[in-house]
Parts: sequence; C-alpha cells; structure tokens
Amino acid sequence: MKPVTLSRRNFLQSGLMSLALLPVPAIALSPSQSRRIDDLIAKMTIEEKAGQLSMFPGANRSAAADAINPATVSGSKEQQAEQVRQGQIGSLFNGAGLEWHREMQEVAVKQSRLGIPILFAADIIHGFRTIYPIPIAEAASFDTDLAQRTARAAAIEGTNEGFAWTFAPMVDISRDARWGRSTEGAGEDVLLGRHFAAARVKGFQGDKGLTAPDSLMATVKHFAAYGAAEAGLDYNTVDVSERTLYETYFPPFQAGLDAGAPTVMAAFNEISGVPAHANSWLMKDILRKKWGFKGLIISDYTGDLELVDHGFAKDEREAAKLAFLAGVDMSMTSGLYLKYLPDLVKSGEVPEELVDISVRYVLEMKEKLGLFEDPFNRLKAKKPITAPTNRKLSHEAALRSVVMLKNENKLLPLPTSGKKIALIGPTIDRQTDQNGSWVIWGRPADTTPLQDVIRKSMKNPADLLTAKGSDIEKPLEGGIAEAVKAAEAADIVVLVIGEGERMAGESKSRTEIIVPPPQQELAEAVAKTGKPIVVVLKNGRAMALSGAVADASSILVTWFLGTESSAAISDLLFGKASPSGRLPCSFPHVSGQSPYYYDHKPTGRPVRDATPDIEYRARFREVLNTAAYPFGHGLTYGEIEYGDVDVGGGQLPANGNITVKATVTNKGSHEALEVAQLYIHDRYASITRPVRQLKGYQLVTLKPGESKTVTFSLKREDLLFVGQKNEWTVEPGTFDVWISPSAQAGKAAQFELLG
Ligand code: GLC
Repeated sequence: MKPVTLSRRNFLQSGLMSLALLPVPAIALSPSQSRRIDDLIAKMTIEEKAGQLSMFPGANRSAAADAINPATVSGSKEQQAEQVRQGQIGSLFNGAGLEWHREMQEVAVKQSRLGIPILFAADIIHGFRTIYPIPIAEAASFDTDLAQRTARAAAIEGTNEGFAWTFAPMVDISRDARWGRSTEGAGEDVLLGRHFAAARVKGFQGDKGLTAPDSLMATVKHFAAYGAAEAGLDYNTVDVSERTLYETYFPPFQAGLDAGAPTVMAAFNEISGVPAHANSWLMKDILRKKWGFKGLIISDYTGDLELVDHGFAKDEREAAKLAFLAGVDMSMTSGLYLKYLPDLVKSGEVPEELVDISVRYVLEMKEKLGLFEDPFNRLKAKKPITAPTNRKLSHEAALRSVVMLKNENKLLPLPTSGKKIALIGPTIDRQTDQNGSWVIWGRPADTTPLQDVIRKSMKNPADLLTAKGSDIEKPLEGGIAEAVKAAEAADIVVLVIGEGERMAGESKSRTEIIVPPPQQELAEAVAKTGKPIVVVLKNGRAMALSGAVADASSILVTWFLGTESSAAISDLLFGKASPSGRLPCSFPHVSGQSPYYYDHKPTGRPVRDATPDIEYRARFREVLNTAAYPFGHGLTYGEIEYGDVDVGGGQLPANGNITVKATVTNKGSHEALEVAQLYIHDRYASITRPVRQLKGYQLVTLKPGESKTVTFSLKREDLLFVGQKNEWTVEPGTFDVWISPSAQAGKAAQFELLG
C-alpha cells in the first residue's frame, strides 16, 4: 500500500507541529542589543572569546553540589575571581550563595576589561529549596499544569539566589529501568515526554520573557538518546536507528524547543559510533538546519574531554577541535576551549568566524536574560532563601505523584483509630531518602520522618508501633526480630521499603530493579505473621516486585516525593486524599525483561493469549513479556468502570477527524480523579507499529456514583509514523482504539483511516 506522505500544508495544520522541522522560535533581539553584541565581539581577543565559551563549577560550592558530579578541581574563590577578571570565564554553575554571586558579578562587570556579565547556572531539577517529587514521580500525575507550576515555583526560588539558567528539564525517554537516570525524566512514553518537556520549560522560563528577574532559562538535555544506553548502563553505547531517533528520542526535545528553551545540552553517549559531543549530524544537520535552532549548545560536564576516552579524539586538543567544529558552543568544566581554542584559531584549524558565531549565541543569551541592561537583575533579593517557600505546592504535587498499584479488600484507607499499626522500614525515622537525587539546595532537615507524621495522624499515638527492620542495602542486627515482634502486636503493617535516594540518579544503574535483598527478607519475615500489609514503596525507577512485596494487600508507589513526602504519604494512607497517580513507566514482572516498555512491537510471534507454557511465541520461559503493572496503571479509592468505546461511524476521512468516546463511572464510595487514556494500534503499515500508542489522556473527577463521557478527537495527523524514507507519513487502513485505565486494559474498537 503506497504510503501517503503528508503535504507540508496538512502537516502544519496538524497538532504535530512540535514534531515538525519548523524553525524553533528564536527570541528576537533589538537592533541596539545586536549592535552591542557586534561591538563587543569586534573588541574581544580570541582569549576573551574562548573565555565566554567556558563554564566552570562555582568555586564557592556546597558539599551537596560537589556530590552530584565527578570530583572536579576548581581553584579557590580568589583564583576564580581572578580568572573572571581576566575574562577567562563566561559562566559559572552550582555555586552557592547570593553574596558570592554578587561578588563575582561585581568582578565581571567592573573589573574585567570588557565588563561582560557572568551567567549563573544550576541544576535546578525538581525544586530549589522547596523540593518537589522527582520528575518521573511528578509525571505520574499526568498533569502538565502541575509540572509547570512546580517548575515556576523552583524558578522563583532559584532566581532569588542569582541563578538565571537551569540545566533542566531532562527530556530523555527512558525505557530501561536499570538506567538510574529515568528518575529525572517523564518515563517511557513519547507523548507524555513531549507534554512534560514543554510544561517544564514554560514553568522555568515563565510567561514574562527571559528578561523577567524570576525567569530561569531552560535547557533541554541530554541530546540525544542518552536513555537508550545499552543494558541501562549509564554512559554506555547507544545504537539506535535514525527512525527510532525521529519517533522516540527527538520529539521531547522538539517539544521543549518549541516551548522556548534556548539551550541544549549534549549527551555523554555515542550514537552508532559517533559521540554526541562530536556529532555534527545531531547538532548541525538536525538541530541547526532541520529544526532551525538558534540557541546555545553546551557540553555536558566534561563530555568534550571524554572524546579522548571514547577513542574518538587522540588528545585533548583534538577533542576541543572536534567538539567545537561539531557544534558544541560552550564547554562546561573541562576548560578545553579556554586552553586550546586560541591556538586552534591561530593555526587556522578553527575559523575565527565560527568562534564568533558561538560567542554571539552566548552574548545573545545574556542579552535575552537582561544581564547587559542590569547584571544584578537576579541579585536584588534582600536575603537568601533559608527555608522552603512553597510547602503547599510540594504537598499537592506529592499527593498527585503517588500511584496505588493494588488495594485488596480495600485495606486502604487505614483508620486513624481503633487499630494498632506497625510501621516498619529502614527510613521511617529518617529525614533523608525523601528528596531524591539531584538536590543541591534542598535540605533533609526540611523534611519530617514518616513515623512522626503517622503518629500525629493517629488518634492514639500509642497505637503506632515502629521498627526499622533493616538498613537500606544491609541487614540490621536484630532488625527482623524486632520488626516481626511489632507486626505480631499490630493489626495492620505498613512496610516502607525500596530504594534509598542514592540508588537512583546519575551513575546509579542497577543490574536488577528489585527491592534490596535485606529489605525483601524483612518483608518475607513480616508477611509470615499473616498480618495485612500495606507496602509503601520508595523508588527512583520502575521496579520488579516479588514475593511478599508483590503479594501485599496494598501497594503505594511513593518514589521520592520531596519536602512534603511524609505528610502526603500519611494523607493517602489515612484517606485524607485519594491516590490518583498513574505509572509513567511499566513495572515488569522481573528485571530480566528490561528494557520493557508498553509500546513495543508485536513481533512475528506475539502471544495472543495467556496460554500457560505456550512455546514458539515471543515470551520468556519464566514469564510472559507483559508488565506486572503497566504504563498508565493506577488505582484510586473510587471503583472506576469503563464503558465500550464508541467510534461513531468508525471512519476517519483523510482531512477530517473521528470522535472516540466512552462512559466512565465511579461505582465506589470515594470521589476519584481518574486518568482516562486513549490508545491506538495501526494494524498493518509499511513500518511495523507498536501494539499500542498513547494518543491522549484526560483527567476526570468522578463523585461516588457519577458517570462522565470522555471524548477524544483523532485526526489523520495523530496517526503519523516515520516511514521507510525517514519521513513522517500515514497510511490508510484499520486501527484499533482504546479508552482505558492503562496500556494493558480495555477492549478495543476499530476505525478505518480512509486516506
Ligand atoms: C552531569 C549531568 C547533567 C548535569 C551536569 C552539571 O554530569 O549529566 O545532567 O546538568 O553534569 O551538573
């Protein structure tokens, strides 16, 4: 069947312009701003130009800032100030303190030859001093407005301390939960990834333009396909097809750029043999030419220097040359541009015109941020932030991020009186292991131990028994015995187990996505008491649950929820709020299924039914290749039923749309916030198609007994895929369509795409 390639006009009409190869909106400068930049560049020496293209960790850095990167040597504050004075530094990141930022800006604008202001950047990923749920947890809300609000709140706190630029949002699609950095993104799905990328960019930057003092310039990272690392091993080889890049890994970047992100961070990994930091196809052909990107491309940490370890550059000098010529405008941390660019220009290996173009990108960012007009526009705060400023929002986000996987016999919500509760787990008395990874300015001291909140929530505090039972990755001497004793004396057990916050994040790939064995042992021992168990899972990634953990009556996936973690968990346990989150990542049966993702291909031997022990089909000997808990899954305290999908006449005309609807009813006695999801499957096409693809979702509040009709409209452009010539296309034929509560639920209806 001949694929119908969309005309550009049709394509532009579609809602998919974010996938289009349209020039990304550049933030226009005024003629006087452009002239100022031209004048500056004309005056700059090549050394000063190399300085503007160099970013370093702030010399005045906290221990938390030190801990998130490989050890780096930055000179003393005085040495760094001298480098700024000499025009050798254009940007600093993750430095601590309002005062220190003011000092450095004074040096830059009043003591350096050209007075070019410093750009202060930071890893403000999911909060600044007020910490919100880790990004993958927040994606479980399926609520991009919430994500925009938390990013905005983080920007207001971060700019108060002088930061103008954040290295966020991370928009890497992650389909292998062994990879520790799935914690930072929006999970495995492209649509959700696109929506959260755009929302977070808009949140960080605000709607008053980058010159607004509380606007925090966003960076979409890590370009590209960092999440496709083989075996989920961080920094590992990536070898994916161009089609997979276009269909899966690029769209969230395009959505973030369309939302106005003016900077992109290159990824550490290679793609099919060419490291991203030296990949001119990625940075010039795709980003600059196809997408019309006119912003700034920065290295990730020492990613330019790492071209030597990749075996792609013979030495540092060549690494600098390759990274710069491939399109990395600014070098973060390695100092390679400061060290080698002047010589590379003098030798003629790097044209100075190219250096001027990169310098222009940097100076344009500083202009757009208003730093030339007022270098202190983000340094006017009277005093630094010394406590969380938005607990209420953090609490709301935490409530919305929790996913209830199961709730047998309606064990949850728990009564606040009349029952003895044993709260067991290594972190129940801790303030750590609540904020998650990528937290520099947030403080464990700002959180509250879960046991304290639970005790306060109970009518009779004496009804709460506590026992740690184990450490996070090591057994605890006598811990299990103590925990069993507490369980035996209680009516209900709340078992708080899972990963510690230092088990997920950068360089935290795990061979098995399981509850650490000592805690699994604790769970098995506690389960033997026969008491009903609520598992409160702490996790930075999708997990493969087993044994007593998987068999618990109720399971809440609580991720790392930030400053208000304990209060939110308590509210959900005792029914002050109803769980509403949905999995943004599939929970497989076992780690060995990784990488597992719901929108996988059918293969030529799909398992059509769950016939036990069926052979010669695409399944493992031990398990069917399905999810234990699929993408989109999440229960509420309501009892939600979905009616059949109504596709009307069942025909989607070439230039029309089709309305797809279903009735959703809450048969329970608690109000519920349901996330109704729209999935399609293209039954046959010139490129194999996933068994399901999310094409829409709606958040629906349902009172007890209430029914609502959920209506979606699909156009031909919503069904696009990347064809054999790597162009977006669509072909007439039969499509399955679901409106369902997860990627594995529901009964399909069919419609015909006519043209
Ligand atoms: C890290 C991360 C990147 C972060 C940067 C600065 O290695 O890969 O996401 O923004 O370095 O801390």
